[in-house]
Amino acid sequence: MCGIVGYIGHREAYPIVIKGLQRLEYRGYDSAGIALYDGKSIKLSKTKGKVADLKERLESEISIDGTLGIGHTRWATHGIPNDVNSHPHYSNSGDLVIIHNGIIENYDSLKKELINRGYTFQSDTDTEVLINLIEDVKKNENIKLGKAVQIALNQVVGAYAIAVFDKNKPNEIVVAKLGSPLAIGIGDDEFFIASDASPFIEYTKNAIYLEDEQMAILRRGKDIKIRKIKNDALVDPYVQELQLNLEQIEKGGYPHFMLKEIYEQPSAILDTFRGRLLSNEAIIKMAGVEDNMKKFLAADRIIIVACGTSWHAGLVAEYIFEDLARIPVEVEYASEFRYRNPVITEKDIVIAISQSGETADTLAAIKLAKSKGAFVFGVCNVVGSSIARESNAGAYTHAGPEIGVASTKAFTTQITLLTLMALRLARAKGTMSSSEFRHHLIELETIPGKVEEALSSDAYVKTVAEIYKDSKNCLYLGRGFNFPVALEGALKLKEISYIHAEGYPAAEMKHGPIALIDEQMPIIVIATKKGHYEKVVSNIQEIKSRKGKIIGIVTKGDVSVKELADHVIEVPETIECLTPLLTTIPLQLLSYHIAVMLDKNVDQPRNLAKSVTVE
Ligand code: M6R
Repeated sequence: MCGIVGYIGHREAYPIVIKGLQRLEYRGYDSAGIALYDGKSIKLSKTKGKVADLKERLESEISIDGTLGIGHTRWATHGIPNDVNSHPHYSNSGDLVIIHNGIIENYDSLKKELINRGYTFQSDTDTEVLINLIEDVKKNENIKLGKAVQIALNQVVGAYAIAVFDKNKPNEIVVAKLGSPLAIGIGDDEFFIASDASPFIEYTKNAIYLEDEQMAILRRGKDIKIRKIKNDALVDPYVQELQLNLEQIEKGGYPHFMLKEIYEQPSAILDTFRGRLLSNEAIIKMAGVEDNMKKFLAADRIIIVACGTSWHAGLVAEYIFEDLARIPVEVEYASEFRYRNPVITEKDIVIAISQSGETADTLAAIKLAKSKGAFVFGVCNVVGSSIARESNAGAYTHAGPEIGVASTKAFTTQITLLTLMALRLARAKGTMSSSEFRHHLIELETIPGKVEEALSSDAYVKTVAEIYKDSKNCLYLGRGFNFPVALEGALKLKEISYIHAEGYPAAEMKHGPIALIDEQMPIIVIATKKGHYEKVVSNIQEIKSRKGKIIGIVTKGDVSVKELADHVIEVPETIECLTPLLTTIPLQLLSYHIAVMLDKNVDQPRNLAKSVTVE
């Protein structure tokens, strides 16, 4: 959580840093701040609230010149969101300034030691402790900033991506990383720093992603120097060419990123299987799977670890892997898995699913699995992310940047990718005939067009949203492949509209949730015409007898549910295991419209952040 941005070079830093903060606001948005340095005085301003509030305050409060600047958008961990706890933070002397994304776990003991040595603290943050620790080391050892940062970080337990500058060194920013992401953009005699590359994409396509336990000294007009924090060894910089473009990170005429991303799903799904699904040749090509086929075929089981929406995608994958490839699958919340001493062997394959590739619990879960000898396969969207790098092998979903905090295209592209994997393994294991396999490939290829068709129900979904927008509770039901979709539908509604919602397997309803049903309760039932259709229709009857309001997500042309439900939203027909890719669409649209009607901040719901880099 938290976004950090910085610039040092020959341009004015302010426009780069403020725009960068706006692009990183998805990472945290409870407070924001900037420090600018023109070589004479530091201008620092910070405030509780959004980057827009900071911008308004800054432009009336301080002069905004300076060719060195750092900025921060916060998701509070230590200390409530207020002006004082916002970053940047000064050291006691006022010479050093820091921004930080992460958590210093041993901050309390460090703080006590610093207080004993006479340091005072304005804020409740761990970050202010770190900058004073750096200052203390620098003063005591009479050394330069870079060295002091290195020594201080060796005393720290926790996670960080930091940028620090010293008033006495106007041509230098020191950055370091452990556990939180940090990208460095390399321009002409200038450097950009950010939590991801989006803040500097219009200035340079050349970027270095710092690895864990690395630090860099960025000197105006000089080459970058990267060192290992532990042993000071110099590291050869690996400069990558960014594939990102500006259009991908802008709203492109949509009122919200979430809506844009919902509508991007046909092309995002296509991008996920482009070059992998070759239906004419009846093959699936996935290098990460191919190169490790022996391991996959010898595996006793697959353990999927993930959080939130990615965990829901993992649940869909469980059904798909077991059904098509006959491999036993367990799906685990990464946060539980990492702390419960799980039984893991060298014959296990762990699939980690993460849009951001930075989720702290998922990252920790795969480190644990690796330490026990399991083979880890990462399914990430963000290229070069920590989980992608930490995994033994993997595949990217290629969904493009997802900026809305509520995951939409990440979910459907994860399912697409995992379906490709399951199909490839099914073929290799011989659990599917070649005609069945070919049929699945052909059907998967039609999905982008069918998602497009599902999106055409948008206007109708909006009328349904209008009817139920004031509900206090909502129930989502599904069975089989669509049970996880029910969970995902409920998560989408609660996270952006703050309406309480529960997802349940439809048959479980009579074991408890049925008691909630009355004429006020909307129940969204996924009842597509495959699998357990008749059973779901019986569940709908049970709801109807208790006067619940039924919104059916049905296969085009459905008759039975239409007769019972208050509203039906149709999706095109497809084979059963692919239905989640279609049934998800109206649920995303329903939550979106309800949240907009309730005047909620759709892209930045309260208390949340896009990538959860704290445990
Ligand atoms: O980046 P990840 O996929 O690892 O993120 C996991 C969850 O934090 C994420 O899916 C979260 O649940 C979404 N905001 C839900 O829309």
